[in-house]
Amino acid sequence: MPASDPIPVALLHGAGYAGGEVIRLLAGHLDVTLTAVTSRSLAGQPVWAAHPHLRGLTDLAFIAPDDFDPASARAILLAAEHGQAITVVTDLLNRGYDGAIIDLSADFRFRDPGLYPTWFGLEHPAPDLLDAFQYGLPEVFAPYAPGQRLIANPGCFATGITLALWPLARHLEALDVSVTALTGASGSGTRPKATTHFPTRDGNVRAYKILAHQHLPEIQQTLGTHARVHFVPVSGPWTRGIWGTAQLTLPPAVSEDDVARWYEDAYADAPFVRLWPSLPELRYAAGTPFCDLGWTLNDRHLVVGFALDNLLKGAASQAIQNLNRVLGLPEPSGLLPTPSPLPA
Ligand SMILES: NC(=O)c1ccc[n+]([C@@H]2O[C@H](COP(=O)([O-])OP(=O)(O)OC[C@H]3O[C@@H](n4cnc5c(N)ncnc54)[C@H](OP(=O)(O)O)[C@@H]3O)[C@@H](O)[C@H]2O)c1
Repeated sequence: MPASDPIPVALLHGAGYAGGEVIRLLAGHLDVTLTAVTSRSLAGQPVWAAHPHLRGLTDLAFIAPDDFDPASARAILLAAEHGQAITVVTDLLNRGYDGAIIDLSADFRFRDPGLYPTWFGLEHPAPDLLDAFQYGLPEVFAPYAPGQRLIANPGCFATGITLALWPLARHLEALDVSVTALTGASGSGTRPKATTHFPTRDGNVRAYKILAHQHLPEIQQTLGTHARVHFVPVSGPWTRGIWGTAQLTLPPAVSEDDVARWYEDAYADAPFVRLWPSLPELRYAAGTPFCDLGWTLNDRHLVVGFALDNLLKGAASQAIQNLNRVLGLPEPSGLLPTPSPLPA
């Protein structure tokens, strides 16, 4: 049982897939309590209207964004679309909000504002705020600075690819990596699109944004300029989860034991990275808050596999890892045990 009253937190724009997962996870979190969920489109309707699986788990109804009182929440999770979060965050800060903000969008992930026009087609309207945000990949950047309260939650592909490559990037002077990763349809949100339509997706595999996915800059930002990542994203015929491989040639001096030690050292204290004896399978990562990693080495050719749930470690459970960190709670609070990943 928690020692004190649960901490009040709010979720803004929680009608989407990632928001629904945040609500589901917070319903089982003993140290925080979700007091408000906003939606522009569903204000006044019960949360289960957008998330039927949460019927009976929460009595909350969506409220209109204008009716939300920031003073009621010590922390805010924000699950708006890219480009919209900037407006919400600047409004909160202009109103003097001094609690924590965990933003699930890409709006505060880049340090360099010059990347936004190229990758998101927008001039960042609040470039001075970018330095105030911590890129929220705890396995790489934690512990965060004391008092850090603004967190940019990483992208889903970016989480898997960065965690797969970070142990190598720490030890190698240069790396040139080819990554291919497949994702399920929930990665593109609730609004139906031609590319998420069942007949388009079912029984099909399709590469898109080849070598030009918007998560590349955040991956490069974390790994450093000595790492060159060539990424082919692929849409897969399922709903949730990302599975991918990263392939590279190692320098002659690197042994199999070195590789194993680099990964074991990097993630020794990371409760949500699991190392596997071979390439991981999607099934055992989907529905869980873990990023699963495994590798195979043949001569100098290294293949690193990664699997994670785009809506969990790629979004909502990572946001709660970050929430726990900024609130001074144990990182796994509310995230374990995990649900069964087997199909119902
Ligand atoms: N899906 C994933 O796998 C994933 C992974 C990592 C990060 N993310 C990021 O997490 C965020 C939410 O993703 P999602 O997949 O849950 O998206 P989604 O299903 O499309 O939901 C988006 C939410 O944004 C709100 N919204 C839409 N238009 C808006 C506008 N003009 N102004 C303010 N709010 C608006 C909607 O709420 P209203 O009812 O208020 O309109 C909705 O709840 C996005 O930034 C996404 O990129 C998603």
